[in-house]
Amino acid sequence: MNNFIYENKTKVYFGKGCAKEYLTSLLKKYGGKVLLAYGGGSIKKNGIYDEMIGYLTAAGKEVTEFSGIMPNPTYAKVQEGAKLCREKNINLILAVGGGSVIDCCKIVSAQAKQKRDIWMMEFECRSYPAEFIPMIAIVTDAGTGAEMNNGAVITHEEKKIKAGLLGAQADAAMLDVGYTMSLPMKQVVSGAFDTLSHCMETYLGKPEENNLSDDMNEAVMRSVICNMRVLLTDPQNEAARSELMWASSMGENGILKSGKITDFQAHQIEHQLGAYTNCNHGQGLAVIHPILYRHIYKDGLSRFARFARNVWGADGTDDEAAISGINALAAFIKEMGLPASFREMGITDDDCFKDVAESTNITAGCCKKLSHEEIHEILKECF
Ligand code: NZQ
Ligand code: ZN
Repeated sequence: MNNFIYENKTKVYFGKGCAKEYLTSLLKKYGGKVLLAYGGGSIKKNGIYDEMIGYLTAAGKEVTEFSGIMPNPTYAKVQEGAKLCREKNINLILAVGGGSVIDCCKIVSAQAKQKRDIWMMEFECRSYPAEFIPMIAIVTDAGTGAEMNNGAVITHEEKKIKAGLLGAQADAAMLDVGYTMSLPMKQVVSGAFDTLSHCMETYLGKPEENNLSDDMNEAVMRSVICNMRVLLTDPQNEAARSELMWASSMGENGILKSGKITDFQAHQIEHQLGAYTNCNHGQGLAVIHPILYRHIYKDGLSRFARFARNVWGADGTDDEAAISGINALAAFIKEMGLPASFREMGITDDDCFKDVAESTNITAGCCKKLSHEEIHEILKECF
């Protein structure tokens, strides 16, 4: 295992009724002006909006609303939120939603305190924000694990780049399974596959030697697969949705990454595909993973074999096990009703694939260092 320093500042409130029990008193610790941030309106339909307004009112807060945060949040939306925070002297951001709302708020929180353009600052000057408006995350859509880290994936539409910026990390995250029950199954499955992807991309990173992080990771992967299967026949099963919610945080709170250099090549490809097509994150990953893995598994054979044996119950020689593990992953994707091709996701032409490939980051943790041409081939195969 590599050396590491681990810290996670997010206080997690987990379980049904946690916001009802703790949010009002928690809000009282912050200044009076709160930005209530949310997406396209699901929280108005399922009652979460009214509930939040109730807690904010009970805590005596002056509320400014920041709504319409879209899936795959844009840099323009970040700037809109930051402007609002400055104009209204916001003391706290309450981010209510999935990964998109939480990510957008992380960068709003940093940009509001920063005169410099944060995109230029981070990507061109390699300088990172140190001042933030405090933030609390209320999770309504699990999968990304965005509530327990400071990374935020933002799409810069003019530059055609979807990439990770560093912003605020939530002081607290409330994970109440009740808030996810209205999420359509298609998005539940997409989110859960995203969690599985985070685990695989961590597990298949470096070094290859056995370590505790990988043992824990195998348990999380098996749990995600098992609970996704429960939801397939019983979509409203609260226990399974709860387990997936915590697995989502576990996938991205750094615990499983301790002592590892992560892979995340599938994510890098999917993010750039998102920059060009605005596709759904979990679905894009579902298409890319098996095809990418067939391209690279020989370069990480023993690791792929261990993954296949311990997660999918495969046997045989390393080569046989590795291939049967990848086949099991592909079959699972099909079983879950996730797409197996970009066409199935609604991507109708492949014109952008060359640009997507050329603008994809090549990661240091992948067992095979891919070329941009190879990524182009993989994208064509995914089509
Ligand atoms: O916008 P509303 O109306 O709220 O609808 C949303 C949205 O359309 C809906 N939704 C959320 N909660 C709901 C609900 N509908 C009914 N009931 C509820 N309780 O779900 C749709 C998708 O929401 P979104 O937040 O976009 O999904 P997700 O949580 O999968 O987030 C995806 C974003 O997170 C990034 C992705 O790239 C993508 O931009 N990621 C962030 C990561 C991080 N910060 O650590 C890591 C991930 O790898 C990922 O890249
Ligand atoms: Zn992801």
